[in-house]
Amino acid sequence: MPFLRNAWYVAAWSRELTDRAALQRTLLGESIALFRDSQGQPVALANQCPHRFAPLSGGKIRGDAIECPYHGLRFDRSGRCVHNPHGDGRIPQAARVTSYPLAERYGAVWIWMGEPERANTTALPSYDFLDEHRFETSSGYLLTKAHYQLSADNLLDLSHFQFLHPETLGSDEMASRGEVSFEEAGDTVWSKRLCRGESLQAFVAGAFGVPPGLAVDRGLNVRWDAPGLMTIEVAVTPAGMPFEFGRVSLSGHFLTPETEASTHYFFAFGLPKEMGDAARMLVEYAVLGLMTPFEREDLPMLEAQQRALGDGDFWAARPVMLSIDGAAIRARRIIERKLAEEARERDYAATLRDSADAYRSRRDDKALNEKEERRDVITVYPSGYATQGR
Ligand code: FES
Ligand SMILES: [Fe+2]
Repeated sequence: MPFLRNAWYVAAWSRELTDRAALQRTLLGESIALFRDSQGQPVALANQCPHRFAPLSGGKIRGDAIECPYHGLRFDRSGRCVHNPHGDGRIPQAARVTSYPLAERYGAVWIWMGEPERANTTALPSYDFLDEHRFETSSGYLLTKAHYQLSADNLLDLSHFQFLHPETLGSDEMASRGEVSFEEAGDTVWSKRLCRGESLQAFVAGAFGVPPGLAVDRGLNVRWDAPGLMTIEVAVTPAGMPFEFGRVSLSGHFLTPETEASTHYFFAFGLPKEMGDAARMLVEYAVLGLMTPFEREDLPMLEAQQRALGDGDFWAARPVMLSIDGAAIRARRIIERKLAEEARERDYAATLRDSADAYRSRRDDKALNEKEERRDVITVYPSGYATQGR
């Protein structure tokens, strides 16, 4: 299945990009070179030199340009070749590479791999809790060898905590005592889970300051925005108490397809700076603590699912549906609808291009015929010599 193109994806955490060396990352099946120019602005270029197809990411950053490591052509942030060290230095017209619109926000560099002119008109969902000016943040990254929608399924149904993460995130009460509801509006889906009277594992209890053995109510709300951008809000309060008495944690989870069968998983936590040192300590605790269940439990499960599916289509495998799947199915339907919209727009644009080409070629033929006809006209001047029309 193709990927949605007219959408923002996280390409990298901001801290990953420098003006010293480019980062190579495959996004939506395409190799991209990411770096910063001399002003510190992020740049994303197709990672293939148009001369002999060398990967630009292996080259040096020279001021505002990247230098191909093979024969030294240099390309600026727009993808234009700005320096040819050979011969008279003339720059061939075709010496350019695709450059992708970027936005830098919430500690991440976001890439737009669709029609460039549409990037400005499409807003990112808000992740204010990752605004580094006001919040202490900490982020993590994992590469998963599974389709990004399997990861979205995973995050949109957190009942799996009980079975896949019994010693860290789960509890024995999640599946049986969980009340689940789903909502959908536009391109957004919510999965809301409320579990009453849970006994938390030490890792989660520690994060929320819950004394050992105290029963709590836990709310787990996941917001999904196409194509794979999620916020998880976890609220914990002593059992029977309103949530205002408890604590809340907010985390962002951003899925960017690497290929059809692998996903860049970016996740981050943020807490208000007013909390002082505790905020820094808690966000780092959350990221470090989650790495273990993510790496040892989610990742092998997602990769095993991908192996089971192989190259086959998800729906063709006829998955059984449970009551917990409401949000994941809605998200998949939204992606399918948006993919169909993009395909229709592409077809329409192709039809317009074909008609324009046909019109141009008819116009050129007509002009040529008229020229030929004029050539056939012989003008006889009074002086007696003849000339051909032009
Ligand atoms: S391959 Fe890049 S300059 Fe030759
Ligand atoms: Fe998980």
